[in-house]
Amino acid sequence: MQLQLRSLIGICLLTMCGLSCNAARILFMGPFPAPSHWMWLEHFQRDLLKRGHHVTSVNNHPTKTPHENLTEIIISPSFDIPKHFPKKNIFNMQFASDFQNLQMWWQIGLMTTEHALQDAQLKRLIDSKDEQFDLVILEQFFHEAFLMFGKKFSCPVATIGTMGYADNMDHAMGLVTPWSFIPHLLLSHTDKMTFSQRVYNTYLSLYDAIMRRWYYLPKMQQLAEKYFGEVMNGVLPHVHDLERNISLMLINSHRSVDLPRPSMPGLINVGGAHIQPAKKLPTDMQNFLDNATHGVVYFSLGSYMKSTDMPPEKTAQILQAFGKLKQKVLWKYENASIGQLPSNVMISKWMPQNDILAHPNVKLFITHGGIFGTQEGIYWGVPMLCIPLYGDQHRNTIKSVREGYARSLVFSKFTVDEMVQNIETLIYEPQYKRSALEVSQRFRDNAIHPLDEASFWIEYIIRHRGAKHLKSQGAFMPLYQYLLLDVLGCALLVLLLTVYLPWRMLRKVHKMWTANAATAQAQRAKKQL
Ligand SMILES: *[C@@H]1O[C@H](CO)[C@@H](O)[C@H](O)[C@H]1NC(C)=O
Ligand SMILES: *[C@@H]1O[C@H](CO)[C@@H](O)[C@H](O)[C@H]1NC(C)=O
Ligand SMILES: *[C@@H]1O[C@H](CO)[C@@H](O)[C@H](O)[C@H]1NC(C)=O
Ligand SMILES: *[C@@H]1O[C@H](CO)[C@@H](O)[C@H](O)[C@H]1NC(C)=O
Repeated sequence: MQLQLRSLIGICLLTMCGLSCNAARILFMGPFPAPSHWMWLEHFQRDLLKRGHHVTSVNNHPTKTPHENLTEIIISPSFDIPKHFPKKNIFNMQFASDFQNLQMWWQIGLMTTEHALQDAQLKRLIDSKDEQFDLVILEQFFHEAFLMFGKKFSCPVATIGTMGYADNMDHAMGLVTPWSFIPHLLLSHTDKMTFSQRVYNTYLSLYDAIMRRWYYLPKMQQLAEKYFGEVMNGVLPHVHDLERNISLMLINSHRSVDLPRPSMPGLINVGGAHIQPAKKLPTDMQNFLDNATHGVVYFSLGSYMKSTDMPPEKTAQILQAFGKLKQKVLWKYENASIGQLPSNVMISKWMPQNDILAHPNVKLFITHGGIFGTQEGIYWGVPMLCIPLYGDQHRNTIKSVREGYARSLVFSKFTVDEMVQNIETLIYEPQYKRSALEVSQRFRDNAIHPLDEASFWIEYIIRHRGAKHLKSQGAFMPLYQYLLLDVLGCALLVLLLTVYLPWRMLRKVHKMWTANAATAQAQRAKKQL
């Protein structure tokens, strides 16, 4: 029996090795310095290492789990986001306009791209003559100049999109996004938009498409030429063309929570890839959670904004609110000298968020509404109180509230009573938990784990050297052909020539004839008189 089992396992391993490609050399790049982006990307990198590939990784965060086949190029010093976009402003920020947000992304993308390309180690990689890679993987964010690495190493490129779908991803894969029912990345509309929403969506999407193509991408091109121009022979391709040469995009999106949208074979949804089975908690936290008879509220503002960056009067308000709760509270707070803590509150500068949310005593997750935390909350079926601050957090919050498993507060405005009231409503009114469990079930219902799916497709692209057969011609067509304007124009011309003109001619002839007939009759009448 045992022998059989063992040989079965052996056969399984053999077929797995046979199916998977041989160890590949992968250049894996996440130049954006925000920790949450890399925390997500690193899951994919780790899985590729586990599958025996050799990874050269360009990022800002030295790994805590070294691996013999991992070579790191750490951008140092990493780009100081708060210096250019002060955190103080973030806590006081209301909704910035969508147009301002777009411009902010472009600006931050250009700055971080140039900063990374100036790094001495990365320069050496750009200059290298003997390096070889089978695949370049890049975060699908605002770093298009990095696509030139694919050209440099003459290998296919795959990207991993952190924020979900944007129109330009569709375009690169050969789809023109239907603005009638697909809201722009920054909007929280559903696919049932009113007339005015469709007008605004079209306006914003058109602005994005035009400005991206004629303002942002040319700047990216300048960066690419500045840093790759000397090293690479011949005329550099345009980043716009490199973008259409991307073989595969793994997008942080999931059918259970995101709108249905038209797709292409090279677009793969991998939302939830970062969620792992719960691991054992540190003993003090385990006890704290186990012993909470009335449940636990877990509070974290994510990895970028620190609770210590909050204005002190807000900290005091939050503590006051927590002190009024029957529940215990776990707060990710980065400074031990917070002052007097209510007896039911425990703080720690590091929290194993996934493992905490998995604990059955956790009744509520107070979050800034970041995409990864929101997905973890959804996976573990925990109702959420969202306090969005910037970027996509407002959009995520509106979606969570609409789906019925969350409520929201405005950071700069909420009072102690409001906070307590919202927490208690979310815990004691059962419909929130019910909705959370419902969406959790949908979110977990996958044919295979999204991370395995991601790695499958990455290896697929390596096995088929870019898998050109996945790429639709739609990506390369001029818009007038894509929209069949030429065919329509031709049809109109044919109609003109075969129907309208003959009809006009006939009418003219008929008119002339009737006119002639009339004058003839008139003359006849005159004669008779
Ligand atoms: C590292 O790569 C080598 C050669 O491809 C392989 O034999 C080895 O198993 C890899 N190491 C690990 C820990 O996967
Ligand atoms: C497109 O990608 C292929 C590899 O998939 C590469 O050989 C080719 O040079 C790339 N074309 C451009 C214009 O970069
Ligand atoms: C929690 O309960 C465990 C046993 O169930 C006990 O050993 C531990 O001291 C308790 N912790 C607290 C903080 O009450
Ligand atoms: C932690 O809090 C103390 C006292 O409030 C303050 O002096 C110190 O600067 C804080 N440290 C950080 C890293 O915020």
